[in-house]
Amino acid sequence: MNKLLKVGAEAKLSLEDGIVVKERISKGYRIPEIDSSLRKKRTRREASLLDKARRAQLKVPAVKDLDKDNNTIYMEFIDGEMFHKVMNSPLSKKLGSELAKLHDAEIIHGDLTTSNILVKAKDIYFIDFGLGEISDSIEKKAVDIRVLKESIKASHPKDSGKHIESILEGYSSSRSFDAVLERLETLEGRGRYKKKVNKNK
Ligand SMILES: Nc1ncnc2c1ncn2[C@@H]1O[C@H](COP(=O)(O)OP(=O)(O)OP(=O)(O)O)[C@@H](O)[C@H]1O
Ligand SMILES: [Mg+2]
Repeated sequence: MNKLLKVGAEAKLSLEDGIVVKERISKGYRIPEIDSSLRKKRTRREASLLDKARRAQLKVPAVKDLDKDNNTIYMEFIDGEMFHKVMNSPLSKKLGSELAKLHDAEIIHGDLTTSNILVKAKDIYFIDFGLGEISDSIEKKAVDIRVLKESIKASHPKDSGKHIESILEGYSSSRSFDAVLERLETLEGRGRYKKKVNKNK
């Protein structure tokens, strides 16, 4: 059975015999050479980060095959829901502790919106690693959390606060929790420097 899952900004996804086929498609507005190298780079990056995350005991779709010539990844289909559709406090806390594991394995997601997080049988799956990288940077980890927070605020404007609190509670298991949180406050303009400026007003 072949079924088109989604034609996204960057990729066409279909389900073929129970396997997700993600093909990065050409973007007409990009210079052809840049387009080709971006598609190649993101496809390889996604496959290699999925493998690395899996080795670090995270739940991600298993990569079945990589067709470099056609910028296509064949991967396990996760028969779940997008995080924002099913989120609740225990799941938010679990997302936080899974993200801690991901970051402690020096993996930055790079596009951590709630549609790139799936939930199946109460397990958290990260997908869509095309903009990710291997790094231990406190700044990059803080940016991942910031993107996640913004995405939750957009889908759940009323009770985003409590979900974000649960995520951070789960994330407190990370070895770089304090440093990342401090950087997050700085990114959000709530850091020490900002406070000092406000005091002088
Ligand atoms: N392995 C998978 N199992 C189940 N559903 C998936 C899987 N991969 C992708 N999907 C579904 O397809 C949607 C789009 O996939 P994905 O996020 O990988 O692509 P994209 O956002 O278009 O890609 P990119 O950000 O790389 O351009 C996801 O939000 C999810 O709903
Ligand atoms: Mg996506």
